[in-house]
Amino acid sequence: MSRLQAEHLYKVFGRRPDDAVRRLESGTDRDELRADGTTAAVIDASFTVEPGQIFVVMGLSGSGKSTLLRMLNGLLEPTAGRVLFDGEDITHLSPRKLREVRSKKISMVFQHFALFPHRSVLENAAYGLEVQGVSRSEREERATESLRLCGLEGWEKSWPDELSGGMQQRVGLARALATDADLLLMDESFSALDPLIRRDMQDQLLELQKTLKKTIVFITHDLNEAMRLGDQIAVMRDGRIVQTGSSEDILVRPASDYVASFIQDVDRSRVLTAGAVMEPVEGAADAVRAAAPATVGKDTPLVELFSLCAAADAPVAVADAAGELVGQVSRTRLLTALGEENAAVENAAVEGDAVEGDAVEPAVPHQRDEALTLTKQDAKPDADAKAAEGVKPDEDEANDAEEVATNA
Ligand SMILES: Nc1ncnc2c1ncn2[C@@H]1O[C@H](COP(=O)(O)OP(=O)(O)OP(=O)(O)O)[C@@H](O)[C@H]1O
Ligand SMILES: [Mg+2]
Repeated sequence: MSRLQAEHLYKVFGRRPDDAVRRLESGTDRDELRADGTTAAVIDASFTVEPGQIFVVMGLSGSGKSTLLRMLNGLLEPTAGRVLFDGEDITHLSPRKLREVRSKKISMVFQHFALFPHRSVLENAAYGLEVQGVSRSEREERATESLRLCGLEGWEKSWPDELSGGMQQRVGLARALATDADLLLMDESFSALDPLIRRDMQDQLLELQKTLKKTIVFITHDLNEAMRLGDQIAVMRDGRIVQTGSSEDILVRPASDYVASFIQDVDRSRVLTAGAVMEPVEGAADAVRAAAPATVGKDTPLVELFSLCAAADAPVAVADAAGELVGQVSRTRLLTALGEENAAVENAAVEGDAVEGDAVEPAVPHQRDEALTLTKQDAKPDADAKAAEGVKPDEDEANDAEEVATNA
């Protein structure tokens, strides 16, 4: 069974939301609704997240990522559609049952850490357990272990403001891990951090994930972060999920010219793997292995094949987890795979299910930058709309943190 399932989720803010859903179902455009003062923040979103997966939701500002996430733990009630958690529909739980699910099974990690300034690092990390009514000695033990996992051993007695931003976010992560929740919801959790620290946190999350195997929904607007972390990635645009797939699916088979334009900055050599680009072995396996400069695993990123391919004319051998020879990557194949970016973009433009107004000129970097800037500007009125309704974007997070915190 999937751990988490979203079925045709809609969230509409403004007047007559049910009516707006019916209109969207029958093909009315989001912009038309906006003219009536109604914001369709999430439109017909469906996906499944398997246990142990990192599911990344990626999209520009205003595309509906946070709204989607907040429906997953019941902070927002969907206008239509359902959220199933371990098969149970959480959209129709009583408030008491929902609080129980939220405190025991789901944890959130916020962008701005949301730590309590007057609690020690240990008390912050133990907070979720306190809400659950766990005894002091047990919660201190579990929080200490969780801080250790996050690299904060020795900092238990410190105050949050004595810690750097990266360390504060480790406390946020430790707090989420301490409760043993199966599902972690992370909204731009690393976006406030400096690039190097951010990379460290990504590494740490991937490392922790190897042993903890949580189910994680991770929101980001950073494509490289999405590609590094995501087992599955959903790309959102204007409230809709426009493509879901592995990073390789999205890179090699972008579903529209919008997605293709989005992925052009990605360093393909770090995302594509030997297994994804290899060719069938020519000749006897033993001879291929003997001639190859090296044998690599299927998961080896292409960036690690450069020096191997440069050093020898024979192809690099590729083996599966059992050590069986499954393919080879020649120098030509390596270069072709890296050069296929433009082909992918052009294909998407030809086959594309491009919505009108979606026509981003593909393949030419500076044009694409302009296109993306344009799209970002498109997103701006959303923030204005929010402000007009008296909701400042940063307030959302503070409200969530408070609501989660006052769960008891
Ligand atoms: N409480 C609210 N009331 C009215 N409109 C809202 C509310 N919350 C979100 N919206 C609108 O819904 C749309 C999606 O917002 P959301 O915050 O989900 O986007 P996002 O992808 O998380 O953006 P960001 O990257 O800036 O965090 C926006 O148009 C936003 O203005
Ligand atoms: Mg957001």
